[in-house]
Amino acid sequence: MAFSNDFLWGAAAASYQVEGAWNEDGKGLNIWDVTAKYGHIRYNETGEVSADHYHRMKEDVALMKKIGLRAYRFSVSWARVLPEGTGRINEKGLKFYSDLVDELISNGIEPLVTIFHWDYPYALECRGGWKNEESSDWFAEYTGVLVDALSDRVKYWMTFNEPQCALGISYQLGVFAPFQKCSPPEILQMGANMLLAHGKAVKVIRERSKQRAYISMAPYSSVFKPENDSKEAIDKAYDDTFRCSGANFCLSMSYWSDPIYLGHYPQSLLDEFGDLVPEFTDEQWKMISAPLDFYGTNIYYCAGYESKDGTYGSNRYMGCPHNALNWPITPEAMYWAPVYLYRRYKLPVMITENGMTEHDWVCLDGKVHDTYRIDFTHRYLKELSRAADEVPILGYMHWSVMDNFEWAEGYDERFGLIYVDYRTKERIIKDSAWWYKEVMDTNGSGL
Ligand code: NOJ
Repeated sequence: MAFSNDFLWGAAAASYQVEGAWNEDGKGLNIWDVTAKYGHIRYNETGEVSADHYHRMKEDVALMKKIGLRAYRFSVSWARVLPEGTGRINEKGLKFYSDLVDELISNGIEPLVTIFHWDYPYALECRGGWKNEESSDWFAEYTGVLVDALSDRVKYWMTFNEPQCALGISYQLGVFAPFQKCSPPEILQMGANMLLAHGKAVKVIRERSKQRAYISMAPYSSVFKPENDSKEAIDKAYDDTFRCSGANFCLSMSYWSDPIYLGHYPQSLLDEFGDLVPEFTDEQWKMISAPLDFYGTNIYYCAGYESKDGTYGSNRYMGCPHNALNWPITPEAMYWAPVYLYRRYKLPVMITENGMTEHDWVCLDGKVHDTYRIDFTHRYLKELSRAADEVPILGYMHWSVMDNFEWAEGYDERFGLIYVDYRTKERIIKDSAWWYKEVMDTNGSGL
């Protein structure tokens, strides 16, 4: 039997992507609220209203129950809770999350909290953001507010969602808010502050949680698939998966996970950047690498070797399947990522995101027949089931519970199990959600 009896079947979303209510009930501004509207997003779309989940939370939780979710992974908007990022608490904002947790629990759905999913408070950005050496303390303070308010009911915590994007795509490539292009030394310093922030947050959760807490981070996996079954090929793909080098070093998994799970930077980073890599004291290293409970990770597709002749990388071929964002569909990522992650970090794995974006629409019969998403999820879950026969897997969170704001891409492509008509805010349960319900109800036994 591949999946354990207490396997967490769920779905995920993130505050800025679904909530809307960007300036209501005392919420402060975040970097997306302020900087996204100036020509950075397709059609100049924003998350100001989005799926309006803030006002429709109870209706949405009722839909989650209807489609049989056992768990819901959501993130908290830091500026909704602490409008200036530190100091004054916005009780109304905090109450929204407390009510959400109550609503989930009373519907039999386990809440999983992501502390930071990219909507950084603008007030803190104005103080230098992650460049400021106080930034890890700000994060710890914010974490403490959440832990005090929610940990009587919340067991599962993820500190950062995809820190690779929060740093690399936002501050190096300049594609996500606040759309900056910082130098490698600056990125290394910001990354060090984020690692410290993670460590301090873990300490706060351990010290103040009202129940046994299960903590992780949620970086994305970019895993290479071995070229064949030989030990050499498997080891080569493993080494390539965890290599951390080149200008985009902070987009690698090991830049974040080696410090956190192994207590040191990846050797390939040190070889390349030498003294530019900020040092930590022994005490800081201890905090950064304090034991965690699982390895959370978002998995979408296999990494590919670039071609030498400018054609397809190794994860593509002419006419290969790809989603609406042109991401290749490579279900094997769902086998190799958990297997390699367990080999390196030796912790149970939780799939904190996986899903498929398409240009879904409402058919003449009023339903959303998203057969591609069903096939995609089926293929990926079969691979996960294969992995679960070999390494411990705690759960699977489908991205996303509902259609939402896809960052720089806006609203054109849809990832949801539940369709959202953005004009009326009407929700329609897609065929894939009913299919997924059957998978959850049967604990994946028919995959
Ligand atoms: C990664 C991110 O965590 C999430 O915010 C995003 O919408 C999905 N994956 C799809 O790109």
